[in-house]
Amino acid sequence: MKFLVTGANGYLGARIHEDLGRAFEVSGTFHRVQLSDGLIQLDITDREASRSVFSKVGPDVVVHAAAVPTAALSNKDPEYARNVNVAGARNVAIAAEEIGAKVVYISTTAVLAPEAYGPYARTKLAGEKQISAICKRHLILRLGLVIGGSPNTTNDRFQNRLLNNITKGIPAVYDNQERYEVTWAGHVSEVIAAAEAGNISGETMSVLVDGCRTRYQIAYDILKDFDIKVEGVAERKDLAGDYATTDELRRLGMPMHTYEDVIGHVVEETKAQLARAER
Ligand SMILES: NC(=O)c1ccc[n+]([C@@H]2O[C@H](COP(=O)([O-])OP(=O)(O)OC[C@H]3O[C@@H](n4cnc5c(N)ncnc54)[C@H](OP(=O)(O)O)[C@@H]3O)[C@@H](O)[C@H]2O)c1
Repeated sequence: MKFLVTGANGYLGARIHEDLGRAFEVSGTFHRVQLSDGLIQLDITDREASRSVFSKVGPDVVVHAAAVPTAALSNKDPEYARNVNVAGARNVAIAAEEIGAKVVYISTTAVLAPEAYGPYARTKLAGEKQISAICKRHLILRLGLVIGGSPNTTNDRFQNRLLNNITKGIPAVYDNQERYEVTWAGHVSEVIAAAEAGNISGETMSVLVDGCRTRYQIAYDILKDFDIKVEGVAERKDLAGDYATTDELRRLGMPMHTYEDVIGHVVEETKAQLARAER
């Protein structure tokens, strides 16, 4: 079984690339920053380049993690978000289908609330539609706020902000209004592997734990192990969260985790990241 991860230099893509690499043959692409040796340069908005890379690598499964990954970035440049998240997803779907590869599309629970999450939600939903229309074999994984260690410690993602709170003394001030579904990065890799083992295709599932938490709550639960004081501020509008459920994970017999279990994993991964940084 051979995997190709797009955006393998990004926060989540790098984690999936690392996890899958323990059990499978894995290649990965980067766009601007080559995080590790061996990654292949690819701009997914270039269809011919996508075709060329996919046919050279010849994966059985493409995990498509490359994207304009947040509401803030998509609001700043909705046209670019459309180009990467919709046209880019279409290029990935076409290139994968031509070589008979399955596509695992990394999506977001934000697609369930387009009025709240704007161009990010709409372009990711349109990306899902490209994948399901073009790829005979595909899987769509919708994620909440992702936490957990990654080889990418620099992108402005929640886990990397926590690392900065610990290592750089940046005050841990987090919003205590908006509630998010919570996803452990390691769980995403587990589900990808389990879905392959079970030959599951044509499904859309949310990979998360039951219940929603604010960024303040999650930061508090992780940073208390590192003796970091966390301050809650009311900075975002009070969105309800609870858009997605774990029903599909359960129905399909996928691995499941509790919030407490996930926090335990993330604390251990954060300790390992700190130990690596000290070496
Ligand atoms: N982190 C979360 O909480 C979360 C939650 C739900 C869903 N997701 C989904 O998870 C995926 C990964 O997000 P992330 O949080 O890991 O963000 P990230 O660290 O910014 O990773 C996104 C990656 O996409 C790459 N990329 C952007 N434009 C590209 C292009 N034109 N061609 C090829 N690659 C391109 C970026 O490469 P360069 O930086 O080199 O341009 C980067 O490596 C996204 O699909 C996102 O929607 C993330």
